[in-house]
Amino acid sequence: MKPSPQIVVLDAGGQYCHLIARKVRDLGVYSEVRPSETPAADLAGVKGLIISGGPNSVYDPSSPTVDPAIFHGGARVLGICYGQQLMAHLLGGTVQLGVKGEYGSATLDLLNGSGCSSALFQGLSGPQQIWMSHRDLVSAAPPGFSVLASTATCAIAAIEAPARGLYAVQFHPEVVHTTRGREILSNFLFGICDCRRDWDPRQRVPDIEDEIRQCVGHRNVFFFVSGGVDSMVACALCQRALGPERVQGVYVDTGLMRDGETDSMRHIPGLSVESAQDQFLAALAGVRDPEQKRHIIGEEFVRVQERTIQARDLMDGHWILGQGTIYPDTIESGGTEKAAVIKTHHNRVPGIQKLIDAGRIVEPLRSYYKDEVREIGRELGLPAEILDRHPFPGPGLAIRCLCSETGAAVQATAEGFILPVHSVGVQGDSRSYAPVLCIEELDQARATELINRISGVNRVIARVRTVSPLAEMRGFASALTVERLARLRHADAIVRRLSHASGFDRRIWQFPVVLIPLGIADAPDSVVLRPIDSVDGMTAQSVAMPGDLLASIAAELLSVPGVSGVFYDLTHKPPATIEWE
Ligand code: XMP
Repeated sequence: MKPSPQIVVLDAGGQYCHLIARKVRDLGVYSEVRPSETPAADLAGVKGLIISGGPNSVYDPSSPTVDPAIFHGGARVLGICYGQQLMAHLLGGTVQLGVKGEYGSATLDLLNGSGCSSALFQGLSGPQQIWMSHRDLVSAAPPGFSVLASTATCAIAAIEAPARGLYAVQFHPEVVHTTRGREILSNFLFGICDCRRDWDPRQRVPDIEDEIRQCVGHRNVFFFVSGGVDSMVACALCQRALGPERVQGVYVDTGLMRDGETDSMRHIPGLSVESAQDQFLAALAGVRDPEQKRHIIGEEFVRVQERTIQARDLMDGHWILGQGTIYPDTIESGGTEKAAVIKTHHNRVPGIQKLIDAGRIVEPLRSYYKDEVREIGRELGLPAEILDRHPFPGPGLAIRCLCSETGAAVQATAEGFILPVHSVGVQGDSRSYAPVLCIEELDQARATELINRISGVNRVIARVRTVSPLAEMRGFASALTVERLARLRHADAIVRRLSHASGFDRRIWQFPVVLIPLGIADAPDSVVLRPIDSVDGMTAQSVAMPGDLLASIAAELLSVPGVSGVFYDLTHKPPATIEWE
């Protein structure tokens, strides 16, 4: 069983908040994240609190705060970044509004005396490589605190009031770029909070299995599996905990999947494949608008799920629904079980919503991060092809196969060609749907400059190779047909194979391959490559690819019947979204 947390990370909105909890657990101490305003009374029994970083200024009236009583309770407190500023602000120190800020690598000097003798920095001496990411800074420590360390631009980079159990640092010990950060966290856990080791990552599989058995009791578990990592690992854990005969999984083949995807699902024990290609393709016939495509796909999913639940009598008391919800999902939705599960679109099915309301749901991975889920999957012996997958959107290839009502010519401008193809973007906080600009150079800086200058365009791509000059290519009236989906599936399989063989796929977060209706009479489509890097999909950077890999991908793509061009998406998100639709 999971222990109750000895360390609670109070979430002040920082990017690395979840990472702090993870690093604490990696040190063998069970830790959880809670909202920063959690009342001190609800934290009784916790040995240490870590206040995370956050994007706000303490002077902003809506900025996150903490219950000041935490500074006078039994727990030791460590503030990190915004956490240090908040501690200083609430306890009588001064925070100075930053103008420029300090981002990235810096050198920390431990002050003679205080810094070198602090329990927080035990075992460290000399200059320390650390990672900073802040605008505001503490300009006067609160009364009773000593300053422990400084950097060239931040005089108060660490403070403590050890008799009161209070410590804070301006830098981020939880990120890998702070070379000795692990030791600093370890000093806080074991030297200051006196934590005991109660968490062994190797013990987690048996622990999860115990938890599943407790939650499920005498019932059986039913999963809708998407083929993604989380639901596959969650399903495999239930199979181990309960025995394969008590776990059923269904994978819905929408006909919008990648090459080999459905076949790879057929070999997984306990999983049945529900074929619904005809249903999805019939519903999508003649549909060209991106939002309409998404809407229809969502509706069809609901139909298949309701049909399956009814056909298998899953509403009786012998069944419980399994879900692959992971930790960020839970936390992002306020940490409540209900809010977390409603996010996944399967849960919109009324039948499933009833199960959730009745508490008939098991989520074995709700305390884990994606990389931990991958590790657990490896411990369970799941194949690497499943565990190392990039994210793939629920609506599948349908939103990567662009359609057009009418064919139109490309339009030459001083900067390049405006293509008769629209794509979705995110500008300001709203959606845009605008034409694409094509340039000749694989130059990201130029693409960014152009997109900021030219209005009415939300995406810039570069021509890699085409069978005809761009001026001779044109748009074609096109729909979501079996033939075009097969063309895209073929192109996607080529790109996946070559980028995997070269190791490029392990350097990036996701690699959409998009089919656009731009070409010549015999070959009316082109392929756009969209490799990106991201942390959470909310923002993303276009990633450049080694020239030899690009050359071999382009050559092979041009051999696909119906394809006359290969292009490269140079746009970051924002202003373009990762997917084109
Ligand atoms: P965008 O295109 O919004 O994509 O920048 C961000 C991330 O979300 C994925 N995505 C989806 N995933 N259902 C999903 O499960 C969807 O409808 C969907 N739409 C986009 C996209 O692949 C990227 O990783």
